[in-house]
Amino acid sequence: MAAANAVVVDLKFERREVDRAVGEAFRDRMVLHASDRECDLSDARYAVVWKPGPDLFRRAPKLEVLFSGGAGVDHVLSLPDLPDIPIVRFVDPSLTTRMSEWVVLQCLSHLRQVPAYLRQQRDRVWRELPQPEAREVTVGIMGLGVLGQDSATKLRMMGFNVLGWSRRKKMLAGVETYDAEGLDKFLSRTDVLVGLLPLTDGTRGIFNNALFARLRQGGALGKPVFINAGRGGSQVEADLREALRTGILGGASLDVFEQEPLPAGDPLWGMDNVIVTPHAASATDVRALFRHVERQIGRYEAGDSLENLVDRTTGY
Ligand SMILES: NC(=O)c1ccc[n+]([C@@H]2O[C@H](COP(=O)([O-])OP(=O)(O)OC[C@H]3O[C@@H](n4cnc5c(N)ncnc54)[C@H](OP(=O)(O)O)[C@@H]3O)[C@@H](O)[C@H]2O)c1
Repeated sequence: MAAANAVVVDLKFERREVDRAVGEAFRDRMVLHASDRECDLSDARYAVVWKPGPDLFRRAPKLEVLFSGGAGVDHVLSLPDLPDIPIVRFVDPSLTTRMSEWVVLQCLSHLRQVPAYLRQQRDRVWRELPQPEAREVTVGIMGLGVLGQDSATKLRMMGFNVLGWSRRKKMLAGVETYDAEGLDKFLSRTDVLVGLLPLTDGTRGIFNNALFARLRQGGALGKPVFINAGRGGSQVEADLREALRTGILGGASLDVFEQEPLPAGDPLWGMDNVIVTPHAASATDVRALFRHVERQIGRYEAGDSLENLVDRTTGY
């Protein structure tokens, strides 16, 4: 019989990294690997998961708290037989910092024409390209949560004008913010659109033709740029390819896709001015994840409230 204080680990991350992190964590608890089919999970109260096996909840019917291995929980909320227990998402400075690094890198790459210069280098062309300053460019961030707010602050430090959009209006120093109602105005002022939204019924397919057409044309970069590190399900890739082809968009940086891995034959791979990364904008540091899980279990067992709880009605 499994110990009641055990933690089930069902993380489809690199196994070596998980094993190394397990070796340093949960010193006073038993760790049960769901990948071990013989392992008895029947008494376990906690599980930390990323894309878990379909029978996890049948094997572990006494779970009391579920921990997501990442900030997004769409992979958890869509699970069959999901029990009605608290779900805690992963929020940690390591994850937040990595995402902001990626977002700032992409904004600077389009500002300083990195794709065009790489092409010129490949062709051995010595030609200087126009060079607007960050303060001439407005970055609009859709999703002003933990990741969006940190990215906004760091983009401000680099000198960009920054706008933010979220369901409920936020207050953030130096950043003009809009709520759901203000989408039109937000888009009409945005030169570089950054998507940091969770995937929910309200955000599925939100980045589509109609939205791209409302972005500001003729800003300092000439044409708007689209950057997405939220979830691929929020972008309509047929519309995105079309917008890039027809010049409604001047460029894109994409970390997430409707289908992952992005199929080898997808035209996005070869498009000029499109930067593709393999859902790697901000990977989970598994050691930090386990520290966060230990902290939350400590709170739970001491009778304190769990932090970063998922709201099942909004889906994030
Ligand atoms: N590519 C990667 O490597 C990677 C890594 C980590 C996370 N992610 C993705 O990034 C997402 C955001 O993470 P986070 O920690 O910042 O999440 P968060 O703190 O929950 O913030 C989500 C933000 O999106 C807004 N939002 C949600 N639904 C909306 C809607 N229908 N209309 C307008 N705004 C909406 C929320 O508005 P309110 O503020 O009003 O609630 C909030 O500002 C995750 O869900 C995940 O999908 C990707």
